Amino acid sequence: MKVPFLDLGAAYEELAPELDAAYREVMGSGRFLFGEQLAAFEAEFAGYSGARDCAGVGSGFDALVLGLRALGVEPGDEVLVPSHTSVQTWLAVAAIGAMPVGVEVSEATYTIDPERLEAVRSARTRAVIPVHLYGRPAEMAPILAWAHEHGVLVLGDAAQAHGARLDGRPLGGLGDAVAWSFYPSKNLGAFADGGCLTSDDPDLVARVRRLRNYGFAEGQAADGVAAELGVNSRLDELQAAFLRVRLRHLDEWNARRRATARFYLDAFADLPIGLPPADDHCESAWHQFVIRVADRDGVRAALAEQGVETLVHYPLSPFAHPALSDRLHLPPDFPVAEHLADEVLSLPLGPHLGDGQATVAKALRRPSVVGE
Ligand SMILES: Cc1ncc(COP(=O)(O)O)c(C=O)c1O
Repeated sequence: MKVPFLDLGAAYEELAPELDAAYREVMGSGRFLFGEQLAAFEAEFAGYSGARDCAGVGSGFDALVLGLRALGVEPGDEVLVPSHTSVQTWLAVAAIGAMPVGVEVSEATYTIDPERLEAVRSARTRAVIPVHLYGRPAEMAPILAWAHEHGVLVLGDAAQAHGARLDGRPLGGLGDAVAWSFYPSKNLGAFADGGCLTSDDPDLVARVRRLRNYGFAEGQAADGVAAELGVNSRLDELQAAFLRVRLRHLDEWNARRRATARFYLDAFADLPIGLPPADDHCESAWHQFVIRVADRDGVRAALAEQGVETLVHYPLSPFAHPALSDRLHLPPDFPVAEHLADEVLSLPLGPHLGDGQATVAKALRRPSVVGE
């Protein structure tokens, strides 16, 4: 039996009647941008994620870039980012001319280590971007307390954490703003690119609404009056309508991910591999199930031979990307991140994995695979 890493075709099939109806409704409405679907999705997602307001944009990357701009981060400012994350977090900082300053992640959570923030703070430190990596919430309480004490802005990156909770709270209102991605493979995925910014500050969200639409002043948008320099970054009506359908199923699909995560945690408890942190005071959205193995590439090849598709998130640390080489604040010194880049391996975990989880467990447990 072949086990694909993620089956997006099955995601469509399960919801086909609802998605097809949404498609027909939008196509028949003749309105494809800035219509009822976007307004409804923004209200629904703000409510779901526990924030006062939400602005849809064209991608998760744009949500970070426009979020940083709306917060007033400027070229030359320093923005603290985790040493281990998807490179997009660092690229978004560089895209506005600011400096990404790495902060080592915690080995226990794979998220930014709050204890290490103070050591890298400087007079130019303007913001920090905690990433809720692999679906697990970052340790926001100490991060928010530190940021508050030093006047540092907090922009969450929840691209991988739709539906996650921290001490019972959803993540959308934690910090000054939170950026989300609706890339198709995310827990809440569109059928093309999409993203949004949530915040409890309506002025901040209004600024993102301006920036996403060429900087046109609200109320004067129809006249095309550019109040500031914006971009074109829209969440279109079709994607908003599809996202509304998928949002209704998100908790149930996340529950399936959680059940598979528990199954793997039990199945691999006695193996000589690193397992992801189990939920304690937080509820992970289980975007990925990431194990650590010394011979990662060998294990990956052995699983592939048995038909199990895996991915690596991420084989290259963000600070090692050539595009960022002239943006590095100090010579990188992040041993935890470098070990993670060498050892992490993501197992199939999608909501349509079904019996595939048993195949994955059997394949990984074969003595020749992880050297039992
Ligand atoms: C942590 C993180 N931040 C930002 C992004 C960027 O999102 P998008 O692909 O929608 O631009 C992604 C996804 O690719 C991500 O995983």
